[in-house]
Amino acid sequence: MASRLAVVFLLGLLFASPLLAIKSFDFFYLVFMWPGAYCAQSKCCVPTTGLPAEDFFLWGLQTYNATTMKAVTKCIKNSPFYINQLLNMREELDSYWSNIKCPSTNGQSTWKKTWKLYGVCSGMNETDYFQFALELRAKVDLLSLLSKKGIYPDFNLYYLTDIQSAIAEGIGVTPEIRCSKGPYDKFQLYQVYICVNKDGEFMECPGSQGFTCSSSILFHPFHDWMLNKTSAIDSNYIKMPISWSDQDD
Ligand SMILES: *[C@@H]1O[C@H](CO)[C@@H](O)[C@H](O)[C@H]1NC(C)=O
Ligand SMILES: *[C@@H]1O[C@H](CO)[C@@H](O)[C@H](O)[C@H]1NC(C)=O
Ligand SMILES: *[C@@H]1O[C@H](CO)[C@@H](O)[C@H](O)[C@H]1NC(C)=O
Repeated sequence: MASRLAVVFLLGLLFASPLLAIKSFDFFYLVFMWPGAYCAQSKCCVPTTGLPAEDFFLWGLQTYNATTMKAVTKCIKNSPFYINQLLNMREELDSYWSNIKCPSTNGQSTWKKTWKLYGVCSGMNETDYFQFALELRAKVDLLSLLSKKGIYPDFNLYYLTDIQSAIAEGIGVTPEIRCSKGPYDKFQLYQVYICVNKDGEFMECPGSQGFTCSSSILFHPFHDWMLNKTSAIDSNYIKMPISWSDQDD
């Protein structure tokens, strides 16, 4: 009896050990952010790498559990992030996965955070993970899907359901919209959440994030002149192989 208990105890230890507790996920949330809403709410600055695209930015490719609808994060401790593994896609990342917070940044800490939080859970290597996200972004092309239905970032109010169905017509699945409070305390289009399965296909979301919006929401304009340029563009920044790696946590 005592030895059986000991075996059960040992097995318990084994399964509780971090080595065996490999986290898995069910689907991705592909998250876009509308910079016009960001600049309407907080100060925004030109990144040190130059002007980003006048378009939706990628915000994340997040690993999720479909049962709990919770994020699956930090699957590997002290995982390294190597900026030089993203060399071939730096231009696209600077345009579409930019960080416009103030003071100006070069985006690298954003990518590093995303990689350590979600990327390492994806089962992909760093290059593949970011490439995958950029390909998905290009496939969705939110601004053109919206403009096809007469929806533009022109400071007008649009029905939330019209925004969702304009995107759904393009990609075949309904996105979730996250709003923030914009001018005149109106809800505005801030983020778009799209579910993607492990094969990279868009899918209906297995649950909801339960975001709060009103039935019609503001679509705030975004122009790159809205970005504060006081932090001068870093002239020391050269797009050349950068061989530092960053392993702190
Ligand atoms: C999702 O979470 C539930 C509850 O914690 C767990 O039982 C399940 O195994 C998780 N799914 C995956 C794919 O890890
Ligand atoms: C990442 O994985 C792909 C295969 O999926 C492989 O072709 C590529 O060489 C890997 N890159 C690195 C830097 O390990
Ligand atoms: C830009 O930033 C500087 C320094 O923080 C500030 O003095 C200036 O008012 C800002 N300009 C705009 C248009 O926000």
